[in-house]
Amino acid sequence: MSSPEPLIEMRDVTHVYSLRRGTSLKVIENLSILVKYGEFLGIVGPSGCGKSTILRIMAGLIKPSSGVVIFRGAVLNGTTHRISLMHQVPPLLPWLTVYENIHLPLISRSDLTEEEKRIKVSQLIELIELTGYESAYPYELSGGMRQRVALARALVTDPDLLLLDEPFSNLDPLTALILSREIEYMWLESTLPPASVVMVSHDIDEVVMLSDRVIVLGGRPARILAEVPIEMKRPRNKKTDEFYTLVDQIYSLIS
Ligand SMILES: Nc1ncnc2c1ncn2[C@@H]1O[C@H](COP(=O)(O)OP(=O)(O)O)[C@@H](O)[C@H]1O
Ligand SMILES: [Mg+2]
Repeated sequence: MSSPEPLIEMRDVTHVYSLRRGTSLKVIENLSILVKYGEFLGIVGPSGCGKSTILRIMAGLIKPSSGVVIFRGAVLNGTTHRISLMHQVPPLLPWLTVYENIHLPLISRSDLTEEEKRIKVSQLIELIELTGYESAYPYELSGGMRQRVALARALVTDPDLLLLDEPFSNLDPLTALILSREIEYMWLESTLPPASVVMVSHDIDEVVMLSDRVIVLGGRPARILAEVPIEMKRPRNKKTDEFYTLVDQIYSLIS
């Protein structure tokens, strides 16, 4: 998909959470982020700086205190199946099987037949390499497998935009590396259906690994400290000077 229009744009967004005893917390202020069609955008910043808040706003889950989100040329009002958010801790339903968890977002879709839904779920199970685990329950899966199921569930609606909230942070380093490689591979091979991906993380390495461009956040309320294009060819090798230099450059902006 190529289009000169941005896929999504946060324009001048400020968000304030109301806390107890009448106090409030301004998390982000006048933040503008534009995501192009076909772009893999990374957002890094320290824990608590507002990364998850930004994704929830982009997903239409929370309405910003001020400012707007423009998605495919129109103001975003609430959630849509064209935008999927994969949460930091995948909220899989423990009483549903792998198949049922992935099928869940399709239940209320009347534009698809049961057969079309079945095919979609099966294709995704194949894509995330969980064939044979269709009737397993979440507790029977490893952390990496659960994360894969969450990814499949985020992809089952064929979203234009996939939002990844620290997708590897609850995994052991090796599993994180494998899943990151798989996402990179799917992205390169265009088997990852969304046009664009936004991934947030406090882990600079994993963001540099996957992104075309990295936005560095910092401060309270958070603002954009820098935007760093990552032009390294893919698949990327962490053990190169080019990679170290980029990670260092971003690290020094945050610290
Ligand atoms: N629902 C909420 N109500 C009140 N404060 C919140 C809520 N969600 C997040 N916060 C606060 O907003 C700040 C940013 O949170 P978050 O967006 O989760 O940051 P990050 O994802 O970068 O760690 C934190 O100080 C957090 O405690
Ligand atoms: Mg977060």
